[in-house]
Amino acid sequence: MIFDTHCHYDDRRYDEDRDQVIEEIGREGVSLFVNVSADRESLKGTLKILERFPSAYGALGIHPSEIEGLDESVMEEIAEKTRGNDRIVAIGEIGLDYWEEGPDRKDQIFWFKRQLELARELDKPVIIHSRDAVQDTYDVLDECRAEEMGGVIHCFSASPEMALRYVKKGFFIGIGGVVTFKNGKTLKEVARVTPLENIVLETDCPYLSPVPHRGERNHSGYLNLVAEAIAEIKGISKEEVCDQTFKNAKRLYRIN
Ligand code: NI
Repeated sequence: MIFDTHCHYDDRRYDEDRDQVIEEIGREGVSLFVNVSADRESLKGTLKILERFPSAYGALGIHPSEIEGLDESVMEEIAEKTRGNDRIVAIGEIGLDYWEEGPDRKDQIFWFKRQLELARELDKPVIIHSRDAVQDTYDVLDECRAEEMGGVIHCFSASPEMALRYVKKGFFIGIGGVVTFKNGKTLKEVARVTPLENIVLETDCPYLSPVPHRGERNHSGYLNLVAEAIAEIKGISKEEVCDQTFKNAKRLYRIN
């Protein structure tokens, strides 16, 4: 059994065949997944996914690239939807994205902290997006004592040393298709040094398909390839990777 801890099935790229894709990933061993929202539109999209698919859980939050014009009413909306629904298992994705020219960094930090506070109020773990913002992400999480909520550093892209610092604080490291890339050397090293007990599988689909599907639309069934890659790196069986990461995902999202 496989748990996809991070996907975006509300994305437009599934509009034509969403039902078929979700049925197909079930046949490929993916029994649970968390649909993660990123902007205001996808808060609604995620709730729709939960209504439609019983194997789905959801996360509500605003991605750092989508904070333009954000206000407190959106925080209230997230709080209200989360309180009323025990299948909303996390706040995310939230964080910092300094890649390319995005929203002002001060604003990103403000809304990152605000949503960490929201997660604390709602007693939920957090899903952290961090791109080209390694130190600031770590510092904000540290300052806000985010380890008390727990969470996952999604699509982990920092150094093995940083992975171990997060592990020490009890965070999970999210690993997806990049671990199969030829140029994914650093992430392969992260996978090697991170204890299996702290790794969760994720697609971030429709993005980041593993080799040999790189560039195509991704789906959770391809996590079989990610699990194989991690198994090879760690010198263990694919089953062990799937079983342990499944348990980890349930621990991360506090699912019984
Ligand atoms: Ni994502």
